[in-house]
Amino acid sequence: MEQNIDAEEAIRRWDSFADTYSKNHNEQGDIHKEVFLNPTLFSLMGELKDKQVLDAGCGEGYLSRLLSKAGSNVTAVDYSLRMIEIAQERTPVDLQIKYLRGNCEKLDTLEDNSFDLIVSNMVIQDLPNYENAFREMFRLLVDGGSFIFSILHPCFVTPGSGWENNNSGEKLHWNVDRYFYEGAYEQRLGDKEKVLFFHRTLTSYVDKLTKVGFMIESIVEPKPSEIMLEKYPSFEEDLRCADFMVFKVTKLKR
Ligand SMILES: C[S@@+](CC[C@H](N)C(=O)[O-])C[C@H]1O[C@@H](n2cnc3c(N)ncnc32)[C@H](O)[C@@H]1O
Repeated sequence: MEQNIDAEEAIRRWDSFADTYSKNHNEQGDIHKEVFLNPTLFSLMGELKDKQVLDAGCGEGYLSRLLSKAGSNVTAVDYSLRMIEIAQERTPVDLQIKYLRGNCEKLDTLEDNSFDLIVSNMVIQDLPNYENAFREMFRLLVDGGSFIFSILHPCFVTPGSGWENNNSGEKLHWNVDRYFYEGAYEQRLGDKEKVLFFHRTLTSYVDKLTKVGFMIESIVEPKPSEIMLEKYPSFEEDLRCADFMVFKVTKLKR
């Protein structure tokens, strides 16, 4: 299902989904974050102690808490008030995280050049106007600062993508369709309820990032490690096709 949708409508959905979403998050986030995203994000971040870090679209806040425990001064923003409430409830008083309600497409309350690092985990694909968000992240970073973000892999998670099974339920291959469609669509993730995403091509991501002024430093397609496969053998199937893509981009020193 495709729709014309703005950030307000998208966030109404997140507000009503916030409690359900947060239930399967522990101190490492959910299982996909533990297996794929956290190892990749932290491998790209570098030194965190005493760094000014923004968690853009923090959700229930697990990543903000990990960043704070690693010694960063963390500001965490989410547009869903309910997500911010849950994040605050889950944060012990000794972690000094500054939680704010705000739209990543327009973060006027935050000053130019105020962060060494911005992390945005699985948020950019939720934004109707991702180019505005890239512009905001660029404005908020110090020269030389990095913006690291993860998204669903734009080449494999497309409207209509999914496993093709045979009659006995065996997974034959992953189907991809309508790659060049750009806009909103709903997709069921595994057996969970349908979630609204915005699909864009890989070319569009790269074009928008470079147009805003970022230099692309790395692109990672996370795979489960041997250790994670021992712990969760069902992720073996993720060696057949990538689910996620992580970008590290830098605001060059002028
Ligand atoms: C998939 S969740 C990820 C949350 C968190 N980063 C994590 O890894 O657990 C996406 C989050 O983005 C937030 N979000 C969606 N649109 C937003 C916007 N325009 N500005 C700020 N946050 C937004 C949602 O409320 C939700 O908390």
